[in-house]
Amino acid sequence: MNDLSVKHLLGIKYISEADIQLIFETADHFKEVINRPIKKVPSLRDITIANLFFENSTRTKLSFELAEKRLSADVINFSAASSSVKKGETLEDTVNNILAMKVDMVVMRHPNPGAGVFLSKHINASIINAGDGAHEHPTQALLDAYSIREKLGDVAGKRVVIVGDILHSRVALSNIYALQKLGAEVKVCGPLTLMPKHIESLGVQVETNLAKALNWCDVANMLRIQNERMEITYFPSTREYVQQYGVTTEVLSKLNKPITIMHPGPINRGVEVSSEVADSEYAIILNQVENGVAIRMAVIYLLASKIKQYEK
Ligand code: CP
Repeated sequence: MNDLSVKHLLGIKYISEADIQLIFETADHFKEVINRPIKKVPSLRDITIANLFFENSTRTKLSFELAEKRLSADVINFSAASSSVKKGETLEDTVNNILAMKVDMVVMRHPNPGAGVFLSKHINASIINAGDGAHEHPTQALLDAYSIREKLGDVAGKRVVIVGDILHSRVALSNIYALQKLGAEVKVCGPLTLMPKHIESLGVQVETNLAKALNWCDVANMLRIQNERMEITYFPSTREYVQQYGVTTEVLSKLNKPITIMHPGPINRGVEVSSEVADSEYAIILNQVENGVAIRMAVIYLLASKIKQYEK
């Protein structure tokens, strides 16, 4: 197969294992390209991409923009904070105005779950979800799984625990879908107050004891406490959270084997992981960031190929 089964990347839920493998194989090629002295290919000279960010971002925004420029696409950037959204313009009107400028693809981050799905039903461009509320963050899950494949040789058969604020996390849901499609076993670990009610219906086990979870796993993906999405208090204090769920070198030294530590960023150093762990040989956090560019190049390239097919 050399073609994606979808026109948009709205969530990992909507793509197949074959789609993910195709994205990985394409990313392998682009990873080689971005490590060359000339890091650019002319593939998308005829494609215009709009990056619409209605919510803050550092890594995802920069990574998408770099990926688009490495593919030679024309890029326009929109940030809600400095736009007419503040004057009451709707999402559909904002996007239709941008599309009137002949945009082929939209990369969108939005605080509302389902914003990308909504948009895909109203406009003709190809949509990439760059994170929609606490729902999905598909390119993050793809780059996470790709980084596991790079570090451990394969994702199938590996044991991955996702630790922390699962309730407010789009990274957790997309990772669960991606890892399971690729044949990994997934557990979630954290305080029960930060677990979605029906999480076990996704085929993941909940483990509240961090030491047990870490002894079970090959990889721990450490999530940030998303204070900005919390309207109530979910645990007594940050100090208690760190005591029970923070990964330090002391915690790692008591395990029966070395494990790989991941983090999607931004890191709260000293909360979910200590600085020493974040910067240690166990952590592949910056490899994840590097792989993010190759994965996003692959997703954009493959979706753009579909646009070109429809135009023929
Ligand atoms: N991992 C991630 O989505 O980071 P940003 O919020 O900085 O984009």
